Amino acid sequence: MRIIRDIREMQAASRAARIQGSPIGFVPTMGALHPGHLSLVHRARTLSSLVVVSIFVNPLQFGPAEDFNQYPRTLEADCAKLEAEDVDIVFAPSVQQMYPAEATTVVHVEGLSDKLDGRSRPGHFRGVSTVVAKLFHIVQPDYAVFGQKDAAQVAVLRRMVRDLNMDVELVIAPIMREADGLALSSRNVYLTAEQRRQALVLRRALLHIASCADSGETAADKLRAAALTVLASEPAARLDYLEIVHPDTLEAVADLAQGALVAVAASFGSTRLIDNLLLPQR
Ligand code: PAJ
Repeated sequence: MRIIRDIREMQAASRAARIQGSPIGFVPTMGALHPGHLSLVHRARTLSSLVVVSIFVNPLQFGPAEDFNQYPRTLEADCAKLEAEDVDIVFAPSVQQMYPAEATTVVHVEGLSDKLDGRSRPGHFRGVSTVVAKLFHIVQPDYAVFGQKDAAQVAVLRRMVRDLNMDVELVIAPIMREADGLALSSRNVYLTAEQRRQALVLRRALLHIASCADSGETAADKLRAAALTVLASEPAARLDYLEIVHPDTLEAVADLAQGALVAVAASFGSTRLIDNLLLPQR
């Protein structure tokens, strides 16, 4: 496994693979890898002969009061996990290389970027779309694998790829969870044992919506109210949002006629967690 830190070296490696006709599968990450990330790597492996994983904690997607400095950085352990997964290249550039002082260009997906997490975290999705556009230009992937865990990120990046005619296929992998249902996240390490138990309310709220929908309820306001009751049963959860939206436009829907994304975000202590569920058309 090669560890590449230099942008030009990564571009040269990708160019060589493309000349040989090897499809490139790419998994962008911020490191602190867990089995959710590794499931994306497996998916990339099934699609491509060269698998590239980037590890870059992207300052542009963190707000001034967010956890950029505190974000777990575990490069050595991450590389050992990726080596065991038979990854070909780890691309781990420095902040200085990715964002030289004179850089002023950003990619902003208008409209979608201020929905869900974008509303609570101004500038977050502009940081995500900018770094992912840069990474796509550097790695030149045929396939790029992202997790459904970050459903709004998926919507923003799909739109970016379409609007800018990027020659890459986005592949979306399902959410990996702990046995008790907590969605795997690099931020779970911040939780105390008590907060970790409290955080299970997110999954309970989503599953309650799914079971109401299975019982025939299709009105989004009724489904939302039912989930809010579940969330209220855990007073330690500070709800940021619980919304039922169209998975592509992230606009609120009135019913499940076109299927829906149920997205939730809440803080437990100072740790903000997100989770979601896709509901089929009814
Ligand atoms: P990060 O949070 O490290 O996540 C990297 C990828 O792993 C994302 O596509 C995310 O959706 C996926 N992922 C995280 N937890 C998952 C889980 N439990 N199950 C399945 N997939 C999961 O998302 C980012 O980094 C950044 O915004 C990035 C795209 C790298 C741009 O900086």
